[in-house]
Amino acid sequence: MPMIVVVGMQWGDEGKGKMVDYLAQDVDIVARWNGGANAGHTVWVGQTKYVTHLLPSGLPQGKVCVLGGGMVIDPERLLGEIKDFDALKINTSPRQIMISELAHIVLPTHKALDVAKEAARGKNAIGTTGQGISFAYRDKEEGRGLEARQMRSPHYFGQQVHQLVELHNQELVALGSTPLDADAVANQYEEYAGYLGDHVCDTSAYLEKSLKNGKTVLAEGAQGTLLDKTYGTVPFVTRSSTTTESAPAGLGVDSEWVTRRIGIAKCFQTRVGEGPMPTEISDERLANRLRGEKDSPGAEYGATTGRTRRVGWLDLPLLRYAASINNLDELVLTKLDILSGLENIKICESYNYHSPVEKHIHLPIGAITNLYDCIPQYQDMVGWIANEIVCREDLKSLGLADSYVKKVERAAGVPVTLVSVGTDRNQVVARKK
Ligand code: IMP
Repeated sequence: MPMIVVVGMQWGDEGKGKMVDYLAQDVDIVARWNGGANAGHTVWVGQTKYVTHLLPSGLPQGKVCVLGGGMVIDPERLLGEIKDFDALKINTSPRQIMISELAHIVLPTHKALDVAKEAARGKNAIGTTGQGISFAYRDKEEGRGLEARQMRSPHYFGQQVHQLVELHNQELVALGSTPLDADAVANQYEEYAGYLGDHVCDTSAYLEKSLKNGKTVLAEGAQGTLLDKTYGTVPFVTRSSTTTESAPAGLGVDSEWVTRRIGIAKCFQTRVGEGPMPTEISDERLANRLRGEKDSPGAEYGATTGRTRRVGWLDLPLLRYAASINNLDELVLTKLDILSGLENIKICESYNYHSPVEKHIHLPIGAITNLYDCIPQYQDMVGWIANEIVCREDLKSLGLADSYVKKVERAAGVPVTLVSVGTDRNQVVARKK
């Protein structure tokens, strides 16, 4: 099993962090290939909560973690996460956390531009996380972004930071925003480079060598398929590639190594930010019931921004679309326990899109951008009582809830191999293939 790729099937927040931690038991290296601190991955082990935005979710299992060349890295946030793990006495040495020399660096001016641009969009705002992601990728595209390799020479890196901040400041002024102090940012980044420079290496060569030596790599995707810059609900998307085919490119390894593509989908859906969501639930009481109590483990409030997530029923046409785009081998469902106790569960089987869409066809790719015109057609399913899902070390069973899982499995056209039924690492039911 050389390389396993794990991606989100929806708009992020599918519970990838927990499932990567679970799957990491059997791998040697966990590597992230896309996005930046816009992600928020939460792992619970007993009473300990680990939240990461940049670090792959393999550290709680003591696995080597790689931040790949397709990522955009905010050094301040990364150092904060490393400090948090240090405090928990988890190994964060440069051999344990490796940063690709090709990853790009996020500056505070990228974040300021992100915020200013969103404000300028007015009612057409995307609802970005404000983490500077789109501007860091823009600078990469335009050939003026800063690469992590430059951090190996902190003083020179500081000078490059100074130059780019001054350029960004002109843009900020044009947008009516306050420019940042280029000297202060440059000094700060020189200091960050001093801490992070030793972690920077040729991770592509490291991964290739490890794979050749029989090691297993788990590639952990951030965000979800419907936020992909090409295949997502454009323009309400992030600026990175979130699908399985982008993993080897973002890590700089041969795509031939990929042997297992796993999609993670939540049993209902959530979205933060703007953009279409056909199955959104307008009944606030029901939506709040699915969100869970604020501050309770797994509650549907953004791990990065704290924003209340929009909530909807599971959308099978979109799930089929995501399964097909990602060429999935397996599907993992999360948060089945949250549906327990509901008398009636709705599941979207098809859309009425101008004329009715046939039930079992893939969503027409063109329609992904026209989701506002899609009227969901629901099937009502009878719920199950909470204690039908049993999940103890010695006894794991989904009871009647398995009929829901079977329905999703049939619709997606790929086997559901694992079902998560709680926040803890052990609350996973493995289904027979
Ligand atoms: P950006 O990635 O900050 O530019 O935001 C673009 C869109 O993607 C916004 O709608 C964000 O709310 C959404 N987004 C980005 N990262 C995540 C994530 O990790 N989970 C959920 N939504 C995200």
